[in-house]
Amino acid sequence: MKKSSYVYLLPVAAAMLSPVAVHAMPVSTLSGERPVVIAHRGASGYLPEESVQSYQLAMKMGADYIEGDVYLTADGKAVMLHDGTLNATTNVVAYAATHPEIAALRSSNGTYDVRQFTLAQLQQLSVTCRNAAGYCTDKTYFDPAVSYSFASYENFLDLAYNHYLDTGIAVGVFPEAKQTGLGVAEAILAGLTNPKYNGYFTTTGRALTQSFNAAQVEYLNANSSIPVSYLGVCPTTAAAAASVAAIADGIGPSIRQLGAACVTAAHDAGLTVMPYTYLNDPALYEASYQLGVDGVFTNYPDIAASVRDEVFGPATPVPEPHSLALLGLGVAGFAAARKRRQA
Ligand code: G3P
Repeated sequence: MKKSSYVYLLPVAAAMLSPVAVHAMPVSTLSGERPVVIAHRGASGYLPEESVQSYQLAMKMGADYIEGDVYLTADGKAVMLHDGTLNATTNVVAYAATHPEIAALRSSNGTYDVRQFTLAQLQQLSVTCRNAAGYCTDKTYFDPAVSYSFASYENFLDLAYNHYLDTGIAVGVFPEAKQTGLGVAEAILAGLTNPKYNGYFTTTGRALTQSFNAAQVEYLNANSSIPVSYLGVCPTTAAAAASVAAIADGIGPSIRQLGAACVTAAHDAGLTVMPYTYLNDPALYEASYQLGVDGVFTNYPDIAASVRDEVFGPATPVPEPHSLALLGLGVAGFAAARKRRQA
């Protein structure tokens, strides 16, 4: 289902109101807005990935979206975890040594599959640092005395929603259907449309969804107006981009797949381009921003935001109340003109 494009009109109207151009370099994203900063597994360069605290830090660092991977537990609850197993990013092995009911969930190859656990069992564990470059590599915010909390999908959504209620700052969410099958995609949409959030996540810009799996992308696209990204693809021809655009609103290529031809083909087909995964190399952010990417999945949201400011200048200030009325008039006028052109 194609999504409303009125959000693309906002920068145009804002530019009409702005007396001074603040961009050091022209923005060449699909929307004309600066690219968004997507906190990949939270601020995972600093704190244990997908933990409650990692998501909280990402929001404090100014991320536009918090990102994470979704699985379903044995009792059918959606939870945030990248690997299907708990060994690399929780204390499950040590915990099982003193908890026989957890040890009993160990598979024959020594792994602990998240799908064998109930949510209550997962919440007994601590999230730990993955032993890989770019994950908890910078210890500035890491406290070894803290037990980092496992996040359910509901916790993940609550964090963004409550951050908005507490601060007035709207941070979006970007859940990925990581487990195979359509059940997890269904759970993702059910969470985003839960009435407890009062429409927060169905408001334009507050949620995006993603998957590497074409069937899941098609499901997410067909059953929601929330934009969906197809991961792991980077079409370089109009025909290839059109076939992706038939089922998705954006692409999420790896950095290795990314290139100018793909950005051009994707944008021409109306697809956003949000590559993964950026670490702490400012030159890589700068090169990608110059290519016109629409967002970056980053383990270091503070670095992504800081380089963005250097490349494009700071964000356009939020208009004063009297300007908001003018902004509304600008948007309405532009929309009417666009509609007339299409008629
Ligand atoms: O979701 C974009 C990117 O995160 C895909 O990589 O492995 O972290 O899911 P992965």
